[in-house]
Amino acid sequence: SPVAVLAIDGPGGAGKGTVSRLVAERLGWHLLDSGALYRLTAQAALKHGAALDDADALARLAGTLDVAFLAEAGEARVLLEGEDVTRAIRTETMGENASRVAAVPAVREALLARQREFRQAPGLVADGRDMGTVVFPEAPLKIFLTASAEERARRRYRQLQDAGVDASLSSLLEEIQARDARDMQRSVAPLKPAHDAVELDTTELTIPDVVDHILRLIEDRG
Ligand code: C5P
Repeated sequence: SPVAVLAIDGPGGAGKGTVSRLVAERLGWHLLDSGALYRLTAQAALKHGAALDDADALARLAGTLDVAFLAEAGEARVLLEGEDVTRAIRTETMGENASRVAAVPAVREALLARQREFRQAPGLVADGRDMGTVVFPEAPLKIFLTASAEERARRRYRQLQDAGVDASLSSLLEEIQARDARDMQRSVAPLKPAHDAVELDTTELTIPDVVDHILRLIEDRG
């Protein structure tokens, strides 16, 4: 039988990253952070001097991305062409650049096969925007995680504060709304729930609540 996939989609800041990692750990499954591939494509464009509107150059970079996802001493690291970009790809600017790069159809096409390679036994938790709609449409369980834009901005604000980074709540909210709009309005693989996705609003939920809820859904479908 095919290897199980749990697709977790939703807007940025809904807690997908943390929830996906914890669910994958609890199940002992592999994890695909598909957003990282778009961030890495944007990082590669910066490194090689490709313009963010040069579709051909971006698609070439996406198709030949030399990346490694490492876990050393419990710490996840990401290498691009051997260089540690773990932190570099997590900045607001690189998120913004990633969302521009992600609107290029040829880039999405170039990353399709690479994402599907992550599907390995005993199972895969796939985190992104189009895991359930495009990349793994046959996934037996699809979750669409949301939270209000205000709550997502507050979460991001707290994360940045904890990391000692200065930020303004109102500009974070504006950035989140702009990124949502771009992700939902693009013509290719726009952000939207798959028709058979379970929608979960996390505005009032804690991370452990969400993880438990998803694990129970998997058991029920089991
Ligand atoms: O999830 P993350 O913030 O890392 O994603 C960065 C950007 O990559 C998103 O704003 C979105 O535009 C794009 N993305 C996408 N499809 C995915 C994952 C991310 O278009 N499956």
